[in-house]
Amino acid sequence: MSANMTITPYEVLGGEAGIRNLVTRFYALMDELPEAHAVRQIHPESLAGSAESLFEFLSGWFGGPALYIEKKGHPRLRMRHAPYEVSPARRDQWMLCMTQALTEQVPDPAFRAWLIETFAKMAEHLVNTSEAPECHADMTKTAKNDSHDGS
Ligand code: HEM
Repeated sequence: MSANMTITPYEVLGGEAGIRNLVTRFYALMDELPEAHAVRQIHPESLAGSAESLFEFLSGWFGGPALYIEKKGHPRLRMRHAPYEVSPARRDQWMLCMTQALTEQVPDPAFRAWLIETFAKMAEHLVNTSEAPECHADMTKTAKNDSHDGS
């Protein structure tokens, strides 16, 4: 075979079945871990659509079929996350679920470390607020304890 034959992360993850398993476990953890409550809260009641979108995105992102792009065009993930409060706490909760799913399903430590780092960079890129909203509200109250604008 030719010297430039490369194995993609998609293949190492086990192709379609491997990525589906990862996404299924990731959202099951988000659903059941009390520590992931704040990130679960901003997702729809049913996680089925979220799981399908993430599966399609990861398929192309890791070098397999570009299912997401074929269906929805350019991912523009930061823009698509803009309607949701992606706080540092929610980023950490998202990563907690993904790290646990990867730990369970990816045996090679070096490949797993690369995946965790790759997800962490994207998660960081998607953060769009500095604090949890309730925390922000409390601080506003403390900072302007005698002023109110009626909102
Ligand atoms: C940093 C923490 C993150 C939070 C709080 C978050 C939250 C969300 C929420 C609330 C949705 C909408 C759910 C839905 O439409 O069903 C969503 C959609 C999505 N997320 Fe995330 N996400 C995070 C990180 C990531 C990362 C790291 C990736 C990719 C590696 C990702 C990929 C996606 C994709 C592909 C969609 C579907 C977008 C669409 O087609 O509208 N997210 N996310």
